[in-house]
Amino acid sequence: MTPADQPNALELTGIGKAFGGVVALRGVDFTLRAGEIHGLVGENGAGKSTLMKIIAGVHAEHDGTMRVNGREVVFRSASDALAAGIGMVHQELSVVPELTVAENVFLGVQPTTNFGIVDWAKMFREAHEQLARLGIDVNVRQTMGMLPLGVQQLIELGRVLFSGAEIIILDEPTSALSPPEIERLFETLRRLRASGKSLIFISHFLDDVLAICDTVTVFRNGRKIATMPAAQIDKLWIIERMIGTGHEDLEESYTSERMLEAPPNAPVVLESQALCKLGAFSDVSLNVRAGEVLGIYGFMGSGQLEFARALYGKIIPDTGTIRIDGKTLRAKNTAAAKRAGIALVPESRRSMLFALEPVYKNVSISILERLSALLLRPGAERRVAQEHVEQLHIRPPRVDLPLGNLSGGNQQKVALARWLAYLPKVLVLCEPTRGMDVGAKDDVVKIVRGLRDAGLGVIVVSTEPETVLSLADRIVVMKKGAVVREFTNEAVSKDRLLAAA
Ligand SMILES: Nc1ncnc2c1ncn2[C@@H]1O[C@H](COP(=O)(O)OP(=O)(O)O)[C@@H](O)[C@H]1O
Ligand SMILES: [Mg+2]
Repeated sequence: MTPADQPNALELTGIGKAFGGVVALRGVDFTLRAGEIHGLVGENGAGKSTLMKIIAGVHAEHDGTMRVNGREVVFRSASDALAAGIGMVHQELSVVPELTVAENVFLGVQPTTNFGIVDWAKMFREAHEQLARLGIDVNVRQTMGMLPLGVQQLIELGRVLFSGAEIIILDEPTSALSPPEIERLFETLRRLRASGKSLIFISHFLDDVLAICDTVTVFRNGRKIATMPAAQIDKLWIIERMIGTGHEDLEESYTSERMLEAPPNAPVVLESQALCKLGAFSDVSLNVRAGEVLGIYGFMGSGQLEFARALYGKIIPDTGTIRIDGKTLRAKNTAAAKRAGIALVPESRRSMLFALEPVYKNVSISILERLSALLLRPGAERRVAQEHVEQLHIRPPRVDLPLGNLSGGNQQKVALARWLAYLPKVLVLCEPTRGMDVGAKDDVVKIVRGLRDAGLGVIVVSTEPETVLSLADRIVVMKKGAVVREFTNEAVSKDRLLAAA
């Protein structure tokens, strides 16, 4: 059969989907040809995962029609889609950490003996063989949760790639993988394509998308914007369509520039020299001056969050040095980092705040050490907290409320208030405005500028270009664990950041 006679692997027409009031997809037509690797790109929230979940039967309620190999289908569940030959690796890792590697590989489809009981010997043998094809050499009897995240991700990939599915969907599968692991994955994808499988590949790494895909489709704001053969387009073409030129969405123009200043003529407060952590980041050298906000931008999995944790002693680097005020930080733990003057507000607020405790306790926790040296007085604790709560416009401005009663944005401000009460030399902020509304974001921008003007060195780590663009005086871009570009004393814009990452 020539390709022309062959029905398309998938044909979607007029797909729409809303969650409550939020429209995630509207009027999407999408075709996956048999035997192609089709790349799907678009900013966070563009609707990529939602469309894939519709194809995989996860979202049964939607508008529009779907054909698989030319035949119309209606999926009521993920197992309907599976039965139709559709396999999906989800963006969120969905392994079962308590089970063995082999059980995860055969989740739900364990080989059985003639008597209907699980054939363990066969399962272990086949799991081992499958994983070896992806270059994974692990003891398949081991508990899944004990393995590094990247390996767990590869095992999950293996499960779907070798499940026999004819249509394979990979939703951002490379974010936890190292370059050699990605190369091996790509070899496997090419082999699967050669054997006639059809694949959809979602990734933020546009170079990867262009390297591995035959066709690329761009999504923006729940709409399909364009589909093109990969050979006829380049990275900039994709970026322009991903972010729009600004005039059709009445929102801000993303290509608008911001002028960065030269670093201030002030001493370096933090310096990282050739910092390495296997599997997370390598050879990261950078510095921050007093009175400067350094932005570190990169896609999810580029190593910037791990680097931030290493600065605070939460991750022990393999090699390299950290200096504070020119002094090498010898002990590698959070207590030593704190003593040296480093503070960290992590991306997950839950890990450092106490939802059931009142606001004032959450603010004062960092000064407790100092206050308790004197003798802790609840009055003093409350008074200090009240000042900061007012200064930061925390709503409602009541320090006795349990923290859990505040909105996420206000909780984040409490996390910041803690460091206002105990001024560090270097403040590391991870995803400081994620999930906040515009007003709360503005407050954070003001707070961070205030801290900078008070002489702190601030590091803002984010996967959102808008966050570093609105906060940073200088920006470094990390990609796959390494610093690849620095923007300083020059114009920078969202499309330039994306192009560098
Ligand atoms: N289960 C859900 N409930 C409510 N809203 C959702 C759900 N899944 C996705 N959304 C919303 O739909 C939109 C598209 O999200 P998604 O498909 O995950 O985008 P992408 O994968 O391109 O980043 C976003 O606004 C997101 O918040
Ligand atoms: Mg997604």
